[in-house]
Amino acid sequence: MIGREGKTKILLYGDARDKGPGTKRDRFYNPAMGLDRDLCVLFCSYAVKQGCKKFLDGLGATGVRGIRIANEVQGAEVHINEINPVSYGVIKKNAALNNVSVNAINEDLRSLCRNKYDYVDIDPYGSPAPYALAAFQMVRGKGFAAFTATDKATLCGVYERACIRRYGAVPMRGEGMKEIGLRILVGFLVRTAATLDIGAYPVFSYSHDHYFRVYLRVEKGAKKGNEAVENIGWICRDNGWKVRKFGEERGKKWAGPLWIGKLNDSSVIKFMYEKAESERAKKLLEIMGQELQIPMYYESSRICSWLKIPQPKLSRVIEKLAEKGFSASRTHFSEDAFKTDADMKEIERAFERL
Ligand SMILES: C[S@@+](CC[C@H](N)C(=O)[O-])C[C@H]1O[C@@H](n2cnc3c(N)ncnc32)[C@H](O)[C@@H]1O
Repeated sequence: MIGREGKTKILLYGDARDKGPGTKRDRFYNPAMGLDRDLCVLFCSYAVKQGCKKFLDGLGATGVRGIRIANEVQGAEVHINEINPVSYGVIKKNAALNNVSVNAINEDLRSLCRNKYDYVDIDPYGSPAPYALAAFQMVRGKGFAAFTATDKATLCGVYERACIRRYGAVPMRGEGMKEIGLRILVGFLVRTAATLDIGAYPVFSYSHDHYFRVYLRVEKGAKKGNEAVENIGWICRDNGWKVRKFGEERGKKWAGPLWIGKLNDSSVIKFMYEKAESERAKKLLEIMGQELQIPMYYESSRICSWLKIPQPKLSRVIEKLAEKGFSASRTHFSEDAFKTDADMKEIERAFERL
């Protein structure tokens, strides 16, 4: 059977689910990641505009991601790697089906380290941690590396020990856990890049459904690595959010080490939004474009249950905080949540006045 994603045709084998992670198998294809690949195509158009030419889809499966880049992004030279020989065969079939030229490779990603690319994409089963070092070794300066993590429960603190083992960081359950999880992932990637004297900066990162996704700009040099790790620190929930730098004193309840800097570059989101055709991509990019670039978000329902008051409309909360001279916005992390530079006392006051 032949399916379609974006402007690209794709051979379909067996069952595929519209939600959640897929099941490991030959010729793996998960339609639930369609939005993620729509955004990937948009990001790769941005990367081409920044001078990127050579793109690697490092863990290709059916090759849908790389083939979409080859088919939908002008000026991209695409290489697709896949360790599984059955899936490797399907990559070649999918390339022929779309009449695009891609270089299909059938290797362990970690054996490709001597090759150089302007963009490396790591979309694994579960955690990208085992591939991060190889990916950064392969990216040229001023290039980009992109990672998916579907082990969201681990990063969000459901499996604390696994988070410590994979990412060397302590997660936090409860309010804010999605942003903490994304920041742990980014922090881990930045620290891994820094071990190679590389500065890595997140330029587009988000949480959606069962996964996190991060795109980082790569800059070579120990100085760049030092600058990037300046943004590694700790976050704690203690009557509002508290943020500390890596070397600063703190008590015991802190999540991290994690990224405490900006998660997105607004010019990247703007470029992608203006180019987006699918409604689902536009919707996410619109919210992300309005979102304040500060850690962390507050959940309206939790505040109301704490204050024992009915939950007001989120737009009214944001208006009320703005009236008082604070910055406030929605966040893509949750429909129920908002970001603000107001402290907890001011937030509670705003709720009580509504
Ligand atoms: C989640 S799937 C990739 C999905 C694909 N990027 C997409 O958008 O549909 C992960 C793939 O990585 C492959 N893989 C696992 N370990 C690998 C390795 N060390 N080197 C190359 N490929 C590997 C698996 O066979 C599997 O097909």
